[in-house]
Amino acid sequence: MALDLRDYVASIQDFPEKGVTFRDISPLMGDGEAYHQATDEIIKFARDKGVEMIVGPEARGFIVGCPVAYALGVGFAPARKKGKLPRETVKATYDLEYGESALYLQKDAIKPGQKVLVTDDLLATGGTIAATIRLVEQLGGIVVGTAFLIELKDLNGREKIKDYDMLRLMEY
Ligand code: PRP
Ligand code: ADE
Repeated sequence: MALDLRDYVASIQDFPEKGVTFRDISPLMGDGEAYHQATDEIIKFARDKGVEMIVGPEARGFIVGCPVAYALGVGFAPARKKGKLPRETVKATYDLEYGESALYLQKDAIKPGQKVLVTDDLLATGGTIAATIRLVEQLGGIVVGTAFLIELKDLNGREKIKDYDMLRLMEY
């Protein structure tokens, strides 16, 4: 019997700041069966699309993307925050509630024409995933899909990535 993955998400009021309900995937990751089930669903989505490479943003995008890459026998490239990646990089900026942030990808992370799946734990405003997609596309990669454990519907991040096929396992 399939697990209800919502039983493995902890909801914490007023974290990291007042007014925010933090959706914590730690219980899901901490349970072998739940982590396996979630990963298997993403693997199936990726396999159907002929994914050749996976890219996930720091830090929780790694947790979702790496086991999928391993299972498919494809590579994983981390999109990282400032000052983390050596060698030449490309950069994409995105808006935060106050100000701006940026993600980076190494220039040789993706080969032109490669089919890429972008993974993260959660879609909120969509800024992070849209920046990650722009990094892949700057390098000539083809984003064939995005995959999340959780979508926060009210923040309408889906609108920012409406041109891409999307899998999400839960919504709040
Ligand atoms: C969180 C989450 C997503 C992003 C979603 O990451 O893991 O990557 O926010 O928000 P958005 O859709 O509004 O961009 P965070 O930036 O907190 O980094 P972390 O994974 O390193 O904690
Ligand atoms: N990233 C952005 N918003 C979040 C939330 N509400 N819970 C967990 N991670 C998040």
